[in-house]
Amino acid sequence: MYSIAQLQDLINKQIAEKKYPQHPSDLYEPIRYIMSLGGKRLRPALLLMACDLFEGSVLKAIEPAVGIEVFHNFTLLHDDIMDKAPLRRGKATVHEKWNDSIAILSGDVMLVKAYELIMKVEDSILRKVLQIFNETATGVCEGQQIDMNFEAIDNVSVAEYLHMIRLKTAVLLGGSLKIGALIGHASEGDADNLYQFGESLGLAFQLQDDILDVFGDPEKFGKQVGGDILANKKTFLLIKALELAENLEEEELHYWINAENPDPQAKVAAVTDLYNRLGVRQLAEEQMNSFAEKALSALEKISASSDKKQALRKFAEELLVREN
Ligand code: IPE
Ligand code: IPE
Ligand code: MG
Ligand code: MG
Ligand code: MG
Repeated sequence: MYSIAQLQDLINKQIAEKKYPQHPSDLYEPIRYIMSLGGKRLRPALLLMACDLFEGSVLKAIEPAVGIEVFHNFTLLHDDIMDKAPLRRGKATVHEKWNDSIAILSGDVMLVKAYELIMKVEDSILRKVLQIFNETATGVCEGQQIDMNFEAIDNVSVAEYLHMIRLKTAVLLGGSLKIGALIGHASEGDADNLYQFGESLGLAFQLQDDILDVFGDPEKFGKQVGGDILANKKTFLLIKALELAENLEEEELHYWINAENPDPQAKVAAVTDLYNRLGVRQLAEEQMNSFAEKALSALEKISASSDKKQALRKFAEELLVREN
């Protein structure tokens, strides 16, 4: 059995060794840049842990695992354009450091490179793996579009929000685990339960991401704190605030949502203050914890060694107390 640290080491080594062409440098340099900035390497770690859970060969899963991380980083390049984000992993985003066109095209070629890596599985499971990956990637795009659409409307429900984050974030965690399970030759039932574990964990993970976007420590978070507030993102926090605010607070919240060209710092400070007064952080944490519990109960149903399941449980729990 591998420790989480060993698996992460394996992933980072493999990523560091991966070579991209030198020319055209504006196409490939952003890939080297974003891939070298680290990040939690969560999705490839899940893929390898899933494979290891069923005694599969982790070494056979390493290239697809890196493929999933390349895909994730591609989504970040495009997401940062869409979200007008200046910072990623504590450094300038690709579209800020270069420009939008370069971030789009580098992202495009990363998607192709992701396929090349994911295809490096045994022929007997190739079609199945690609099918899961295609469903996952389509889901992410759907979620991203819904996320953008929600910026312009105020009557988003919690159920609609959960549908959106399931697509943009949770399916990729589920998909990574399921691909790992397939490479490890898990039974259909175990692979499905692992997918459920990943999907619920992904919902909890995105709720935590939304909380950190407002309440994170700017020194540790690595992204612009308050970015979601500035973009009027319909996060769980804003949806609940819109639901709970009355009278003056309701007026104040709508004032900031509808303000044209507000002072960014003033808007972030005012909306954060409203969130504090309305107590929405605690509600988001409760929702997050209930998905975490759901994830752990799906994990319980899987037939695998309890030591290995314990490692996944620990990984999930640590993920939800992170600071970036
Ligand atoms: C960021 O993903 C996008 C979300 C789904 C919230 P991560 O938080 O996994 O980002 P890195 O890879 O660790 O930087
Ligand atoms: C991320 O949602 C989803 C994808 C990148 C597909 P966010 O927009 O919240 O992610 P961050 O906060 O920028 O990492
Ligand atoms: Mg986004
Ligand atoms: Mg974003
Ligand atoms: Mg976010």
